[in-house]
Amino acid sequence: MKSEFGLEENEGMDECLIPKSAVFEGNLNAEGKVIINGRFVGGKVTVNGQVYVGTEALVTGEIEANEVIVGGRFEGNVIALDRLEIESAGKLFGEIQAKRLLINDGAEFEGTCRMTGGEAKPAAQKTSAQPVTKQPPASEPVAESKRITVTIDGPAGAGKTTIARRLASELNYTYLDTGAMYRALTWKALKNKLDLKDENALVEMAAGTELKIISQKDYTQVLVDGRDVSEEIRKPYVSRGTSAIADVKGVREIMVWLQRKSANGRGVVLEGRDTGTVVFPDAEKKFYLDASLEERALRRANELEKKGVNLDLDQVMDDIRKRDERDRSRPYGALKKAEGAIIIDTTKMNIDDVTKVALRHIGLNN
Ligand code: DC
Repeated sequence: MKSEFGLEENEGMDECLIPKSAVFEGNLNAEGKVIINGRFVGGKVTVNGQVYVGTEALVTGEIEANEVIVGGRFEGNVIALDRLEIESAGKLFGEIQAKRLLINDGAEFEGTCRMTGGEAKPAAQKTSAQPVTKQPPASEPVAESKRITVTIDGPAGAGKTTIARRLASELNYTYLDTGAMYRALTWKALKNKLDLKDENALVEMAAGTELKIISQKDYTQVLVDGRDVSEEIRKPYVSRGTSAIADVKGVREIMVWLQRKSANGRGVVLEGRDTGTVVFPDAEKKFYLDASLEERALRRANELEKKGVNLDLDQVMDDIRKRDERDRSRPYGALKKAEGAIIIDTTKMNIDDVTKVALRHIGLNN
């Protein structure tokens, strides 16, 4: 059974159980007890009583309650007016505020903690959920007050990665390659021989994956559960599998959450398919890069050739065409021009020219 709770608000309930296979979106107010065994996405749970996040639950958002017990995965902020406990299997990433805090052996916590009274028992283990790092400065840093969010979307091979890196470097901004995240999950799903049609299995896998996306000087380093897959995820067999993963709404919700968290604050360049439409619809500057299919296929084939992968140009073109179609037609997070995005057709432009045009639009250079 897969039930979808599309409730905006659910006032005044005494007790609430969100079952394992359910997805709850919105806000939830209750007296008494709330047990979340399924997924709770993005809203706020306010409970005059206890909230229990079950071992298989995935919760993103905010919880405010007298007592909160986290046995599953929680990403967001918790205010426990009295007591917060993270059980051994619990993973909590975010800000917490509690009167009493117990973090059991094996539990994971990363974030900030403010005690409002009583005693805290310190974290048993810390994980690094820091998915991006800063680019080294390449020019005078832009004034802090001017730091903005820049999104670059577009189809495969349009030049997003090259331009996003250049912009981030010029502006001394953080760079986030969101496609690498979908690639990383695809690699893991293929490696574990998961059924790519089994959405629940894919969401569960995504929720249980420790993903690190580290922007190195010339490439994006990608660690999946500690294993470096930076090169592997660029191979054609992974590219072909990405659509199946990227189509799953639950997977996208987790990725979008992580992307927003990674880009926390200003001064970031994100590239992908939905960074200007879903991840940061309020970004100050949005770009949509495009180029002819032939040109994009040629660029991809050249890139692959440099890595020793020789593919027929027609085959590359066919792969890109199919991926474009799927990227453009998925019901959630589809590739499209964001409202207010500046379109740059890079077919006949070189990297320097595209960078100059983009910087001029950003208005932080020349
Ligand atoms: O940009 P890329 O080729 O590395 O992206 C790999 C796949 O991930 C692409 O086929 C679509 C998907 N993707 C997505 O759905 N949303 C994003 N924000 C980024 C990538």
